[in-house]
Amino acid sequence: MISKTMENALNKQINEELFSAYLYLSMAAYFEEIGLKGFSNWMRVQYEEETFHAMKIYDYLLSRGGKVVLQAIKEPQKNWESPLDVFKATLKHEQHITKCINDLIDIAEKEHDRATFNFLQWYIDEQVEEEANDEEIIRKLELIKDNPNALFMLDRELASRVFNKPTLK
Ligand code: FEO
Repeated sequence: MISKTMENALNKQINEELFSAYLYLSMAAYFEEIGLKGFSNWMRVQYEEETFHAMKIYDYLLSRGGKVVLQAIKEPQKNWESPLDVFKATLKHEQHITKCINDLIDIAEKEHDRATFNFLQWYIDEQVEEEANDEEIIRKLELIKDNPNALFMLDRELASRVFNKPTLK
């Protein structure tokens, strides 16, 4: 049986992940509005990834005999200045999520909850990858500056991203 402290902290993280999904869905709509369907596709895939992150915790909590308590998801931002502005906001958000995961690991250690500590290692690796992906796109957008041809080339590249559901343990 999982402790109440750990249960509350994991429920909070489910909400963080669902908010992430909501934020990226909002960003996908913004990109579609400004005619960048490839960027929009990338964000839709990100939305699916975040939903998966939330559901992985949801299933884990249930498997440990915990109670899933869903909380209200706050309203995401809906307008940005530019694609670069979006990706800077994305990186900042992922840095926040990385901190949330690190805090959860601290709680698991304090609670002597080895199972949750092990479970969270997957998220540590995932956050390294997420921040690296955002940083790579930011670097490209900074090189592109105001060059529409280069922006459309990147849009085509981002159109090829697909969601590969990781296998659940
Ligand atoms: Fe689920 Fe992007 O962190």
